[in-house]
Amino acid sequence: MRIAALKERASGEARVAVTPETIKKFKALGASVAVELGAGERASISDTAYEEAGAELGLAAEVVQGAGIVLGVQAPDPALIAPAAPGAMVAALFDPFEAGEGRGRERVAGYAAAGLEALAMELMPRITRAQSMDVLSSQSNLAGYKAVLAAANQYGRAFPMMMTAAGTISAARLFVMGVGVAGLQAIATARRLGAQVSATDVRSATKEQILSLGAKPIFVETVAGIEGEGAGGYATEMSEEYQRAQAELVSGHIAKQDLVITTALIPGRAAPRLVSDAQIATMRPGSVIFDLAVAQGGNVEGSIPDQIVERHGVFVMGYSNTPGQLAADASALFARNLYNFLSAFWDQEQGRPVLDEEIGSAVRLTKGGAVVHERLRAAPG
Ligand code: NAI
Repeated sequence: MRIAALKERASGEARVAVTPETIKKFKALGASVAVELGAGERASISDTAYEEAGAELGLAAEVVQGAGIVLGVQAPDPALIAPAAPGAMVAALFDPFEAGEGRGRERVAGYAAAGLEALAMELMPRITRAQSMDVLSSQSNLAGYKAVLAAANQYGRAFPMMMTAAGTISAARLFVMGVGVAGLQAIATARRLGAQVSATDVRSATKEQILSLGAKPIFVETVAGIEGEGAGGYATEMSEEYQRAQAELVSGHIAKQDLVITTALIPGRAAPRLVSDAQIATMRPGSVIFDLAVAQGGNVEGSIPDQIVERHGVFVMGYSNTPGQLAADASALFARNLYNFLSAFWDQEQGRPVLDEEIGSAVRLTKGGAVVHERLRAAPG
């Protein structure tokens, strides 16, 4: 089995889908690995390091030639994979429900037409045995950390309380909205830096987690949120009544905060709007809001990907690709997720992965010339 990894072509994508570590592990399974020249450059992995791990290096068409598996961070244009073996598997992020040109649904259709087997890593089920294969978790964790550092860097004041000969500086107050994987890491990071941290979510199960990290839970008590974890661990869109109660609660709290990190997402929908322009106006000048959901439509009114927007003296910021800002670590974890996924299903006799029903049907988008994923077939176009 030949495994190929290409240089990422999406703008601003600094990660890479294989590392010298995973190349050695794939080789131990009996596969060969080919990597496009320069693929690891922006993740601080040299061609020499790949070569020393036993990879073959070459131009895109050379490495893909005859490959039965192609690995990517973001799924490559299907035209790039034309030289691969018929029916080759491609494991990467596909953003399969997005409507953009040449992306999302259109790209999935291209994969089907090319007879490729597209495996969308972001659709990995949130089940215990798939934790080590879960790219959303590995990347969100790093994103939560980086969001706090970026916000701290933009903030013109210090995080910890400092008692100095020149007087006392008070601790920064930081509020995390959305306590999933990214939010938990944001809380932990901000606490380590010495901020006074509070946090909110719609899922009641997060209250305990917030407390256990030494932060203060801020929850809507008048209208019921999501009891426990929610279906598949995820949040859904909340009722109008809940949204009103949440807006009121947040308005009172946010006016007293110096930094806000928002991370709220709802699978398959635009990110919920959590902070309005009027609420931003109540914060003191120099405050910072980092919108981790900016690329999914944004939790914060007026946030623009990769820009620092000043509103009422408050800085509103967010990256289109936050894990990509920590490309070396993000690549190391992403590559391990891919390896853990493929190796868990590796069939020694056939020399290739054979996915089981539960995980296969969750991640497989196309096979045998057709779109096979239930959610894509249910809502075409
Ligand atoms: P996510 O990225 O989909 O959303 C981030 C957070 O925003 C979530 O906690 C969500 O409840 C919250 N949120 C959504 N709408 C909101 C609103 N209007 N106001 C405030 N907060 C809002 O979530 P993520 O990080 O992907 O985690 C989702 C779940 O999956 C969690 O329960 C997590 O524990 C679970 N999980 C399970 C894994 C496994 O068992 N393999 C692995 C990773 C996560």
